[in-house]
Amino acid sequence: MSPFLLTRTLPEDATEAALRADVLHGLSHTPKTLPPKWFYDARGSELFDKITELPEYYPTRAEREILAARAPEIARATGARTLVELGSGSSEKTRHLLDALSGLHTYVPVDVSESALTQAGHALIAERPELGVHALIADFTGGLALPGTPGPRLVAFLGGTIGNLLPAERAAFLTSVRALLSPGDALLLGTDLVKDESVLVAAYDDAAGVTAEFDKNVLTVVNRELGADFDPEAFTHVALWDAEHEWIEMRLRSRTEQTVKIPALDLAVDFAAGEDLRTEISAKFREDGVRREVAAAGFDLTHWWTDRESRFALSLSVVR
Ligand code: SAH
Ligand code: AVI
Repeated sequence: MSPFLLTRTLPEDATEAALRADVLHGLSHTPKTLPPKWFYDARGSELFDKITELPEYYPTRAEREILAARAPEIARATGARTLVELGSGSSEKTRHLLDALSGLHTYVPVDVSESALTQAGHALIAERPELGVHALIADFTGGLALPGTPGPRLVAFLGGTIGNLLPAERAAFLTSVRALLSPGDALLLGTDLVKDESVLVAAYDDAAGVTAEFDKNVLTVVNRELGADFDPEAFTHVALWDAEHEWIEMRLRSRTEQTVKIPALDLAVDFAAGEDLRTEISAKFREDGVRREVAAAGFDLTHWWTDRESRFALSLSVVR
């Protein structure tokens, strides 16, 4: 195997068809919604990386602290020879795992962002020429097929990205991950934890406006891919804590009454002044909820680690 292999499991026309279907569905229903995976073109991936360095955005630092402390324990518990990482982005924190997994054969980063995979893959093979890297451009919510590399396999899903799925989507996703694994394999899951509302809202509405730009980037993606005429400045970025569901909602609020045309869908979308378009949920978790959700998918949670301030958790679960 060449040290860096990039496989596209999503044909470009399938990606465009999925975007069309999501935009048509999400913008012709009330309330209006768009799925968060469309944030991540090259600019969106770059903006997310900037978010991870913001003073208000604690999850990346908290999870890195846990990984740095626990990677040797994770390596001993799993003995993983294949590390699959879903929504791997820059793979920056993953380096702690790559350092600790001494018997690792192949690293399989999986992401919808080709730019993130290419950058991360080239950086990794330059640093670790001995490591096999088989990157997959794929949607982790839809029929993932893994390369036939040796087990045991460890699937890592870091950053709290599982919180960007709705509860029913999380259940289906965890079940599909379980179906990819065999006894002896494991799941390493990063989950952001429920905490004070003011800390959460600040993390999703930073003073420098980077999250607002990230949020509005989805409109730029729809403009470019479907010929729409969204004016990002005609929308305000909003972050709200939903205490009932225990999730943050990111929304784009229309500043005025306006009509947006989307020629590729032959669609005109009316927005009332003050009407919201929901672009993301980011669910926050508690230990018992995570334990229950992984158990329902056929995993036993064996380890639960938090950072010193108990803001974020990393859990290890084994296939039952
Ligand atoms: N794991 C990294 C990046 C988190 S950002 C970290 O912890 O910092 C979320 C990543 O998931 C992005 O790189 C985005 O492109 C990817 N992503 C989002 N939805 C996805 C989907 N449905 N399938 C595959 N990748 C997805
Ligand atoms: C990728 N995901 C876990 C991030 C989050 O915190 O929900 C995405 C993000 N949205 C706004 N800021 C960061």
